[in-house]
Amino acid sequence: MRKKLVAGNWKMNQNSIGISEFASKLLTKLQNSQPNSDILICPPFVYLPQLTALFEGSSVQIGAQNVSNNSKGAFTGEVSAAMLTDIGLRWCIVGHSERRKFNHETDEELIQKMELLFAEKINPIFCCGETLPDRNAEKHFEIVQQQIESTLCAMTTNIVETITIAYEPVWAIGTGVTASKEQAQEMHAFIRDLIGKQFGDSIAQNTHILYGGSVTAENAQELFSMPDIDGGLVGGASLKADSFFQIINNCK
Ligand code: PGA
Repeated sequence: MRKKLVAGNWKMNQNSIGISEFASKLLTKLQNSQPNSDILICPPFVYLPQLTALFEGSSVQIGAQNVSNNSKGAFTGEVSAAMLTDIGLRWCIVGHSERRKFNHETDEELIQKMELLFAEKINPIFCCGETLPDRNAEKHFEIVQQQIESTLCAMTTNIVETITIAYEPVWAIGTGVTASKEQAQEMHAFIRDLIGKQFGDSIAQNTHILYGGSVTAENAQELFSMPDIDGGLVGGASLKADSFFQIINNCK
């Protein structure tokens, strides 16, 4: 049985005052409940120490949104996997569609990032998903298959075992248009099948596949009730303690 994971991707949002308020609200709510899911928040790099300190000793884990594909040295503005370990992190998002688009991240770089994270015992959350033109051209399975085959399928089993996959259709990210539970489920089952064919059924059954793209307090329950949806990668709705908590509470 895979335990659900609700991961917040704050992107380039929040400030230190807002974070303190968010943390005290969320901690109060969590004190009076027994969440059924693991909880993760990925803030911008500069807020990682603040957030780690605020949630220390709680069930809320903290992760990074990105990592360098180089291990150390003259890479101005970059943060290495070893630095993430140094401050106690265990999670890092890799290959979010915004980074693929705006930072032109390549499959080769994504592989390098996941290998460096593995060496530091950090679990990658690997993002994949098709654009609207891909979906309209009914190429969504083909595109996601290609994204998985050119990255995860080129990696070793012991690394893939540590990876959580996030299926995030680009047309659903930040648009308010969520994939239906059927659309999400069929893609998640397809991804699990791909992993099974390459790495065997046991790894496929143990792999967490999150859904991302306009998850809200209102639609989380029906999405998360589907058999192959193991929680969510939540952007906008993770910025407010109220909606993030409601999403966490929707994990049965
Ligand atoms: P959204 O973002 O929930 O705001 O659509 C999800 C994501 O990009 O991870």
